[in-house]
Amino acid sequence: SLKGGAGAPRGGFARLGAADVAALRQLLGERNVVTPEETQREELLRFNQDWMGKWEGRSAAILKPASTAEVSAVLKYANEKNLAVVPQGGNTGLVGGSVPVHDELVLSLLRMNQVEDLDTRSGIVTVQAGCVLEQLDQHLAQHDFMVPLDLGAKGTCTIGGNAATNAGGLRYLRYGSLRGNILGLEAVLADGKVVNSLSALRKDNTGYGLPQLFIGSEGTLGVITKLTILCPPRPKAINIAFFACADFESVQRTFALARQNLGEVLSAVEFCDRTAIDFVLKREAGTGVRDPLDDTHPFYVLIETSGSDGDHDTEKLHRFLEAAMSGDGDAAVSDGVVAADETQARAIWRLREGVSDAMTTAGYVYKYDVSLPLPRMYELVVDTRERLRAAGVEDSTRTAGYGHLGDANLHLNVTSLTGRDDKVLDLLEPWLFEWVAKAKGSISAEHGIGQCKPHFLHLSKADSAVDLMKTLKATLDPQGILNPYKVLV
Ligand code: FAD
Ligand code: MLT
Ligand code: ZN
Repeated sequence: SLKGGAGAPRGGFARLGAADVAALRQLLGERNVVTPEETQREELLRFNQDWMGKWEGRSAAILKPASTAEVSAVLKYANEKNLAVVPQGGNTGLVGGSVPVHDELVLSLLRMNQVEDLDTRSGIVTVQAGCVLEQLDQHLAQHDFMVPLDLGAKGTCTIGGNAATNAGGLRYLRYGSLRGNILGLEAVLADGKVVNSLSALRKDNTGYGLPQLFIGSEGTLGVITKLTILCPPRPKAINIAFFACADFESVQRTFALARQNLGEVLSAVEFCDRTAIDFVLKREAGTGVRDPLDDTHPFYVLIETSGSDGDHDTEKLHRFLEAAMSGDGDAAVSDGVVAADETQARAIWRLREGVSDAMTTAGYVYKYDVSLPLPRMYELVVDTRERLRAAGVEDSTRTAGYGHLGDANLHLNVTSLTGRDDKVLDLLEPWLFEWVAKAKGSISAEHGIGQCKPHFLHLSKADSAVDLMKTLKATLDPQGILNPYKVLV
């Protein structure tokens, strides 16, 4: 099938033999090559299966290097023997990019997790690719800095995986993309060559921007082993507010008012519809996460401010509240609450960050992550519901819209409550991607292409651009051993 991923036939790669396992153990040490022996089966499965449990590969070896030199040695061997390899960080990716499609070897970066250096004046950090995002952030917090990126998977995803997917997340509105914040990186090419592009300078126009090639390349051009990142100071004051809106027009007005009134202290503007919130409330029942508002509403907007002066931010927030709540029956927001303390702030964030997990565990989830012109963003959710209703699958599915309002990035999830249902998939694809293309949007705002969307890439990229991508892939990885069946077909 061209839809949903995992349809590609196996390429002409070699199959792993006992001599290969022995050679790889020689390079990495006995314990650092996990194979299908009885005691290691569970571990092997964890690396073969994606976070949502949608895709499962059949890799017979998980490789766990501890240094750039070991990554280099493993890739040199794999390239010589024509063995395919999937680089893997925290395995939280949502497009099936981090797991094998067939029997590719998994190269896990998790042992390479050290923060090597932090310049405590500039906030420039040098970190190994397998460092977990939250651990990096906690390290930076000790020196009053933060990672310019935050996402719901922070406790598991790695900074290398974030770079490889150019992850967006919850603070993109404020700090921009990783493409802008990563100053340099070290990567290992398919043949084992190490490319040192580890600049730690803010400005460095010395030829091609090589780090950019690897950022967002989803493990298809090289394995990222180390990065230098420019980190902003940690804000001293943070406010979280949660608003209800009657319709998507009011959601947009709320965002516009937030930009006008909160200006430079605005650090996140997220939204959810009621369907999304209902999933979270059900999943989180008993955990202290509850609806902070009395009535139910069709839409919710979460706004975060962060700055260096609490009084200044609070004053701005009050001005914004006045603007959003005034209007004699025509106010942008119908109700709202400002978190009184950190516990409430965390519970409000959970209402938004918990959507992914809640909708994944409630059934089989069809997940879409698109960029659209803001005014048309929710129209796609309405049209999707209507399409599923007309086809008679409304009762067995739930469709929710949520996402990064400040970046016009819609997440549209359809959960099939009865499990995987090919009829639902046939209704959604390619229809939904074509809808997005017609609206001049992007079929992937932040999650990437992985094994899920290569056949639809042409809807968001001109043929000439896809051709150049193929040329770069063939130049850097002539045998195509790095993450085959992903991104390009
Ligand atoms: P993996 O899942 O292991 O890998 C992802 C891709 O990168 C794969 O193609 C893999 O081959 C490649 N890769 C990994 N490490 C390397 C490396 N060192 N060198 C080369 N290639 C590598 N994404 C967003 O953009 N915004 C969000 O808000 C967001 N929220 C999420 C919330 C939840 C609950 C979950 C589960 C996921 C979320 N994601 C989000 C998905 C996001 O892409 C990942 O969480 C994250 O960026 C991937 O990091 P990882 O270490 O888990 O990478
Ligand atoms: C999010 O913003 O919650 C993530 O991108 C995950 C998801 O879309 O489910
Ligand atoms: Zn997201």
